[in-house]
Amino acid sequence: MSGHPTQGTPLLRIQDLCVSYPTPDGLKEVVRGVDLSVSRGERVALVGESGSGKSVTARSVLRLDSEARTSGRVLIDGQDVLEMNSKEVRRVRGARAGLVFQDPLASLNPVKTVGWQITQPLRIRGMGRREARRRAVDLLGRLGVADPARRFDDYPHQFSGGMRQRVVIAIAVIAEPQVLIADEPTTALDVQVQAQVLELLGELAQEKDMAVLLITHDLGIVAGFAQRVAVMRDGKLVEEGDVDRVYASPRHPYTRALLDAVPRIGDQPGRRLGTAAATADPVSVSPEGEEL
Ligand SMILES: Nc1ncnc2c1ncn2[C@@H]1O[C@H](COP(=O)(O)OP(=O)(O)O)[C@@H](O)[C@H]1O
Ligand SMILES: [Mg+2]
Repeated sequence: MSGHPTQGTPLLRIQDLCVSYPTPDGLKEVVRGVDLSVSRGERVALVGESGSGKSVTARSVLRLDSEARTSGRVLIDGQDVLEMNSKEVRRVRGARAGLVFQDPLASLNPVKTVGWQITQPLRIRGMGRREARRRAVDLLGRLGVADPARRFDDYPHQFSGGMRQRVVIAIAVIAEPQVLIADEPTTALDVQVQAQVLELLGELAQEKDMAVLLITHDLGIVAGFAQRVAVMRDGKLVEEGDVDRVYASPRHPYTRALLDAVPRIGDQPGRRLGTAAATADPVSVSPEGEEL
């Protein structure tokens, strides 16, 4: 899983990114000069505790916050997203860069079928209904959704959390983006489903040679997924390097502290770094179990 023959020119290059939000007390800067690149076929993890600026960084790449004041450069395949007009940005979303959010319920439309939502990125690019449906059913099947042709016409509330996140992933990758940003894609899921969903993401990414930025507060899932890791604290990157090097000999005390909080193999699966995973599902047999 580590190393890749075609790594080279970055597909995603974030340069000196600064993001501020207007507050009653003036501008509050929450991302402060981030530099980060991800090449084709490469998987990079962006880690850091809650509130460090990871999601703001992710959202800036696709310009999802209209109130954010942004400076620096966000190059996707050489083109600066921060300089684009809104029509150009819309063309980038889905087709060149896909985004998977943490909370599948919040990112799905409750009144549209999952099939409608998955085929949207293809339909708005002019693909016919039948071909779009065929591809969506295919992808759902690959993502482990049983009886995908029937489930295509179901609504999000008819899916479990784990299955819903597969739908969100399908929406993000159906138009085969070169860059995939996954912001805590498994945090809302229980531990076993987390591993499966990550594996599926990894498989799809590898197959399409995508550049993947995985954002997580959970260092326990990084080593098996990413080749490189960047550690964010208070809006800045404090350390970056190959996963093996960073895990074996972290240079920054903050990285060391994060790593010290990761459970070792053999620890109970319920006891994980952070709060979301630890409190999400205290029962050992998950309600998702029957679907696995
Ligand atoms: N729309 C917004 N307006 C003002 N502040 C925001 C906004 N979005 C995020 N922030 C602030 O930016 C900081 C970083 O948030 P975020 O990127 O979500 O952290 P995380 O690393 O947990 O993903 C937090 O202090 C958060 O409160
Ligand atoms: Mg976040």
